[in-house]
Amino acid sequence: MTAPRAQWGSKVGFILAAAGSAVGLGNLWKFPYVAGENGGGVFILAYLVCVIFVGVPLMAGEIIIGRATQKSPVGAIQALTHKGSFWTSFGWLSVAAASSLLSYYSVIAGWAMYYAYLAVTGGLTTAGTVYGDVFSQTVASGGLSLSWHLAFMGLTIAVVLGGVSNGLDRWSRILMPSLLVMLAGLVVRSYFLEGFSAGLDFSVGIRPEEFAASSMLAALGQAFFSLSIGMGTMLTYGSYLKRDDDIMGSTLQICALDTIVALLACLVIFPIIFTYPELSPAQGPGLLFASIPTGMSQMPFAGLLMTVFFFLLVFAALTSAISLLEVPVSFLIDRFGWERRKAAAVAGTAIFLYGVPSALGGVEGGAFFGFLDQLDYIVSNFMFPLGGIGLSLFVGWRMPDEIRHDHFLSGSKFKVFYNVWLTLLRFVVPFGIAVVFLNAIGVV
Ligand code: PFF
Repeated sequence: MTAPRAQWGSKVGFILAAAGSAVGLGNLWKFPYVAGENGGGVFILAYLVCVIFVGVPLMAGEIIIGRATQKSPVGAIQALTHKGSFWTSFGWLSVAAASSLLSYYSVIAGWAMYYAYLAVTGGLTTAGTVYGDVFSQTVASGGLSLSWHLAFMGLTIAVVLGGVSNGLDRWSRILMPSLLVMLAGLVVRSYFLEGFSAGLDFSVGIRPEEFAASSMLAALGQAFFSLSIGMGTMLTYGSYLKRDDDIMGSTLQICALDTIVALLACLVIFPIIFTYPELSPAQGPGLLFASIPTGMSQMPFAGLLMTVFFFLLVFAALTSAISLLEVPVSFLIDRFGWERRKAAAVAGTAIFLYGVPSALGGVEGGAFFGFLDQLDYIVSNFMFPLGGIGLSLFVGWRMPDEIRHDHFLSGSKFKVFYNVWLTLLRFVVPFGIAVVFLNAIGVV
């Protein structure tokens, strides 16, 4: 006898957990600088198009596979096809992709945790601190990166150990609202800075001349990463969903929340950058870990601001990390009948070890130099797109129509969009992703 499938405590629990998966470092760090580099407002428009025409349909599709089968990716696809079916490889790919992404996501989140610790203990506000140096020293110190990677993975495992309602649901309900309050507070603070209008103009001002063909691809890639699709996380979260929840309605709410957070992040970050002339917007990872503290250190209540900012980052990263760990964990539970405790401990430890080369890879000249970047390259350019194409084609063409139709319609206010949704999923989504993929490997 297998235990009945765990379920979300309520619809809100599911929406907050899925939005928690979506809202992460991608919103707070990547979105602002990618938007800034690709024409600001024009990029944001392109991004919205990608979210609506590619992100929303695929997210709903993933959730439908999960809810229809009540299983994690591999078992879910098998249940809808047959054992040994070619389509199952996309389930395996999800498990590999989520584990790979988490291995280095946790290293970056570990840096944010270390900064949060420094902020609380006053270590970030010592006079004369050069934040660029603090960041390069953190990255270059294998021991430091490794210890904080361990701490962050430990937290992630602790939440996942609690299970769906006591772990994922409960913590998302605590972390997500706190995150929104902290973000709103920081937006208000930025509003009173001298650089607010310059920052606003940089992030949303329309600059078509800076928008290139590559910007469209950047928008699509960003939408994918930010919405957590193509990795089996939404599928797995959907497998804990009750039968009568409106999937399209929830998907729209999750995508809207994710997009709002990305836009608000721009309103926090760029006003700070434009208030202090020594800072520049195109800084990559340094944007968060060097530029922002440099700016904040010159404001009143610097310690408090930095504490809020880095806690915000840690909370956002944690709700994303738990969704990533849940993919291999639910796979181990479904496939081998393991208890959740064992599955979380084994998968979490294995992923921690997988992240060791990324944590040690900042040491120039060391054996793993650049490992994190290389793994990120593989995950973003190969695993994400292949997973996305596979899942969209699967739902669009292979999944039995009655099941697909039934789950789209059940409890839904969006019934009339069924055919539009299916057409997007069959043609637009795979085509769009294929273009990004071919571009990444240099074919187009
Ligand atoms: N959406 C997360 C972010 O924006 O940081 C990253 C992510 C989490 C991607 C979970 C994929 C995923 F399955």
